[in-house]
Formats: sequence, structure tokens, C-alpha cells
Amino acid sequence: MGRITDRFRLDGKTALVTGASRGIGEAIARAFADAGARVVLSSRKQEDLEQAADRIKASGGDAYAVTAHAGRTEDIKSLVDRAVDRYGRIDVLVNNAGTNPVFGPIIGVDEKAWDKIFEVNLRGFFFLSKEVSSVMSDRGGGVIINMASVAGIKPGIGLGAYSISKAGVIMLTRVLAQEWTGLNIRVNAIAPGVIKTRFAAALYSSPELEEEILRGISIKRLGEPDDIVGAALFLASDASAYVTGQTLVVDGGGVMV
Ligand SMILES: NC(=O)c1ccc[n+]([C@@H]2O[C@H](COP(=O)([O-])OP(=O)(O)OC[C@H]3O[C@@H](n4cnc5c(N)ncnc54)[C@H](OP(=O)(O)O)[C@@H]3O)[C@@H](O)[C@H]2O)c1
Repeated sequence: MGRITDRFRLDGKTALVTGASRGIGEAIARAFADAGARVVLSSRKQEDLEQAADRIKASGGDAYAVTAHAGRTEDIKSLVDRAVDRYGRIDVLVNNAGTNPVFGPIIGVDEKAWDKIFEVNLRGFFFLSKEVSSVMSDRGGGVIINMASVAGIKPGIGLGAYSISKAGVIMLTRVLAQEWTGLNIRVNAIAPGVIKTRFAAALYSSPELEEEILRGISIKRLGEPDDIVGAALFLASDASAYVTGQTLVVDGGGVMV
């Protein structure tokens, strides 16, 4: 019997992380490689993605870059095929690629923006999970982590459609957890607060805006991508063997649900 802390290791496992070229996804992929996993990184822009994979390889990790649009069925299928061709299995999937093309009252959201938000943030999460579930179940099971948001719990101001998509991610997590326990697949979500990435840059673009956000956060600072990593490692590993269907909020004590 190993030590209890060994349960956080991912040796011998393969993890697929979408939106892994920067921000939260890159931090998670790097941490999983540090914990012993082989990592498949995915996002749309090849050059950025390969650079992220190279950074992981430079610190001794095993990383493979596969470009794919996370909302498109053909891309999803070829992403899974290429990951399996390369490593033979997928033990951990992190649905992380997300988008928000509009900011402002929901009345201003047109069909194009609505469809893009739901294509990437929700449709893609389901269909990639579905594709990966058969690979996982053929090999005895696995773990899925969905990147939700505190906006999926308490609507973000000016982030109406995005908030609805992230509430959908939280329910998708529960539905899949309930239905796929029999396949030995655990499914959990992480709900970050404001994390300093390109995606959230507009939210803290002035000291006034940043101050307003900090008023709602107990731990008086914005989050960094590495603040999400501990939750991801816990949920990806055997340390969370008895946890499924949950959403772990990592927001410095903001929503406190
Ligand atoms: N930062 C925050 O405050 C915060 C808070 C709560 C939740 N989140 C969630 O956390 C996740 C990661 O966000 P982040 O803050 O790390 O953002 P980020 O730094 O902007 O990174 C986004 C990543 O997703 C990829 N991506 C975007 N659209 C894609 C698409 N259609 N298909 C495939 N890949 C795509 C990007 O690469 P390409 O552009 O090359 O495709 C990039 O790798 C998102 O789901 C977001 O909703 C973020």
C-alpha cells in the first residue's frame, strides 16, 4: 500500500485538455504532466498550441498537440482518434475551451453570438464527452472535468448568455455523473471566479473595475491559473475516487454556495 498522497499522482494515465494553449487549460495540462500523465493539448491555433506543448516537454513532460475546434463534430472525432492513435487510451478529459463573444444586457445577444457560445461552451462539452466515454469505458473507466464558472451559479453582470451556458455545464456534469457511474466514469466540474487570463482581461482592465470585483471576493486578490490546478488534480486523480456530480467553486470566497 502506497502513501495516501500517492493518490494524487497520474502516472501511466493519459489526459486530454481542451483550450490548453494558454490560461487555465495550459496550467492544468502542465500540472497533469508534472503529476506523471501524458497530456494531449488541444485548441484552434496550431502555433500557440505547439508552443504550449513544447513548454511542457522542455520541463520533462510528455505532451502532444492536436488542433481542433471544440464545438465541431468532425474536429471532435479526429481529436479523439489522434489521441488514441498516439497514446492508446484517454483516462482524463478536461472540457475547458470556452468562449464569450458578447458583453452587455442579454437583449443585445443575436443568434450568431448565442449559437457560438452554446456551440463551444455546452454542445462541444457534451459531444466530446460522449466520444471519449466509449474510449474510457472500453478500458475500464475514467474521469471527466468540466470547466464551469461562478457565472453558472450567480449570473455574471453583462454575461447573460455565457452564464446560462455555464449553468448548463453544471447540469450536464450531474446528468453525465448519474448516467455514467455504471461505466466507471466520474464527472465533476470546477467553477472558477475571476482568473487573470486573456479571456477575463476586460473584467479587470482598469483599477476601478478590479476594485469593484474585489469587493465581492473574501480573499482580496484575483485568481491566477495556478489557483485552479489543485482542484483539477484532485478531481482527475484517485484522491477524489468517491466524488462525482459535484461542482467545486474556486473563487477566493465569492459566491459561497
Ligand atoms: N478566466 C476566468 O476568469 C474564468 C472564470 C470562470 C470560468 N472560466 C472558464 O475557463 C475556461 C478557460 O478560460 P481561460 O480564462 O483560461 O481563457 P483563455 O486564457 O482565453 O484560454 C482559452 C483557451 O481556449 C481555446 N479556445 C477558445 N475557443 C476555442 C474553440 N472554439 N475551440 C477550441 N479551443 C478554443 C483558446 O485557444 P484558441 O483561441 O487558439 O482556440 C485557449 O487555449 C473557459 O471555459 C472559461 O469559460 C474562466
